Amino acid sequence: MSRTMAAAAFDALTSGATFQSRSRTITEADIVNFAGLSGDYVELHVSEEHAARSRYGRRIAHGALIFSVSTGLSAQMDLINDIVDAFVGVDHLRFIEPVYIGDTLTVTKRVLERKDLANDRGLLVFDTKVLNQNKKIVLAYVDKLLVRRQPSRRAADSELAQRVIQSYRPDGPFMVLQANELQEIYQRYRLDPRTCRSAIFAVESLAHFLQDGVKGLFDSLNLTKDRFVLSVGEGNGAPSRLLAKLVGCRVVGVDISPLQIANAREVAALHGVEHLVEYVQQNATVLDLGERRFDAAYCNETMCHWDDKPAAISRIVKHLKPKSLLGINDWLKGRRGTLDDAHDAVPCFRDLYQPDIWRQLSLSEMCRLLEEAGLSVLRAEDLSDFVDRGLKRRLHELERLPQDTEPVRRAVQYYRVMIATHFDYLSYGRVIAQAP
Ligand SMILES: C[S@@+](CC[C@H](N)C(=O)[O-])C[C@H]1O[C@@H](n2cnc3c(N)ncnc32)[C@H](O)[C@@H]1O
Repeated sequence: MSRTMAAAAFDALTSGATFQSRSRTITEADIVNFAGLSGDYVELHVSEEHAARSRYGRRIAHGALIFSVSTGLSAQMDLINDIVDAFVGVDHLRFIEPVYIGDTLTVTKRVLERKDLANDRGLLVFDTKVLNQNKKIVLAYVDKLLVRRQPSRRAADSELAQRVIQSYRPDGPFMVLQANELQEIYQRYRLDPRTCRSAIFAVESLAHFLQDGVKGLFDSLNLTKDRFVLSVGEGNGAPSRLLAKLVGCRVVGVDISPLQIANAREVAALHGVEHLVEYVQQNATVLDLGERRFDAAYCNETMCHWDDKPAAISRIVKHLKPKSLLGINDWLKGRRGTLDDAHDAVPCFRDLYQPDIWRQLSLSEMCRLLEEAGLSVLRAEDLSDFVDRGLKRRLHELERLPQDTEPVRRAVQYYRVMIATHFDYLSYGRVIAQAP
C-alpha cells in the first residue's frame, strides 16, 4: 500500500462509521478444534451429556472461540489490514448470550474514536458487537488498534483524495447505501437480491441514480460474457453488479475509498456475484494491477474528481489490450461553471457535498486529454438532456413511494437538488475511445 493510501485509509474511518462482516456458522468442529488448541476441555463445551444437564441444555461454544471468530470476521472486512501495526487491547468484553452449534454469527464494528498520534501513527477504537442469527448480541467489546498513518509525498493530491473519501462515506452527504441498509430494504419488500432482477436494480438506483446512463455506457463497449473488464472509480460496486448480472462478464473494480471497497465486497456476496467481481483499493492516478490486461474499461462518474487525469488515463491505457475500448460517463462543467460554483449560487446544494472535490471538464477538454494519451476518440456525446429527463422520471417515481424510509427520503432530496443544478453547474457526457 502506498503512503498516500495509508493516510487515506485511516482518514476514511471517521467516528461513527459502521461496518458489518460476512456471516459464519459455528460448527461442532470449531468447538472440538478450539478445545484442542486451547486445552480448554470444560465439559460444557465437549460433553453433550454434561451440557444437557446444565442451564444451557446442550453444548455451548467457548467464549474465547467466539472472540477469536469475531477477530477473523473483522479481518475479512479488510478495513485496516494494510495499515495495522498492533492490536493494542480490548476493554469491556462481555459474553452476553451463549452460542450453540449451528448458530450463525456476524460482527458489526462502529468507529468510536480516531486519534492522530506522533510518528505518523493513529489509534482506532471500535465498538464491536457479535450478533447471532436472531440479531441478539452474544458478545460485545471495545477494541483498540494502532495503525500507520504516513503523510503523502504529494500533499495536495492526498488532501483532495481525503476530501473525496470523506464525501463518499456512508454517513456523508452523498447517497452511499451500505450493505446492511440495502439488506433492510430487500427484507422489507421481500426481495431476493440473487434472483429478483428488475426490482433489485430499482433499489440499487436509489443510490446509483443514473442507472440508464450506465447501461448505455455498457452497450457502447460491446461487452460480452467472455470479456475481462476494468472499472476505475467503481464506488460501492453498483455498476459492476449490474454488469455481472446483465452480461455475466468478470469485472475488476478499483476505487480510492476503502469504505466503498469494503461495501462493494459485502454487497456482491449478498447478490451472489462475488465470483464475477473483484474490488481493489487504489488511487486511479497511480493505478497498478500488475500484469493484468483488460478487454475494456469504464469510468462512470468519477473522473470529475481526479486531479492528475493524464496520469490516470495513461495508467488505464497500460492495462488495456491493444485496440480495446475505454468508455467514460462523467459529470462535466455546466454553462455557468462547476459544482463548486453551485455552492454559492444554489444554497440547498451545500448540504449535499464537500466543497472542492470537483475537477469537472468540458466534453472537448475530455476528448483532448484522451487523444493526448494516444487514444482515438470514437464518439463524444452530450447526454445532459437524456440524464435530465431520466432524473425527473426517477424523482416522479420516488415521490409516489411511501416516504417512510431514510434512503427514499434522501434520494428524493438528492434528485431535487441535482435537477436544480443541471445545465448551469453540471452537464453530462459520454466519450468512447479506443486504445492504441
Ligand atoms: C460518483 S461515485 C461513482 C461510483 C461508481 N462509478 C458508480 O457509478 O456508482 C465516484 C467514485 O469515484 C471514486 N474516486 C474519486 N477519485 C478517485 C481516484 N482518484 N481514484 C479512484 N477512485 C476515485 C470515489 O471514491 C467514488 O466512489
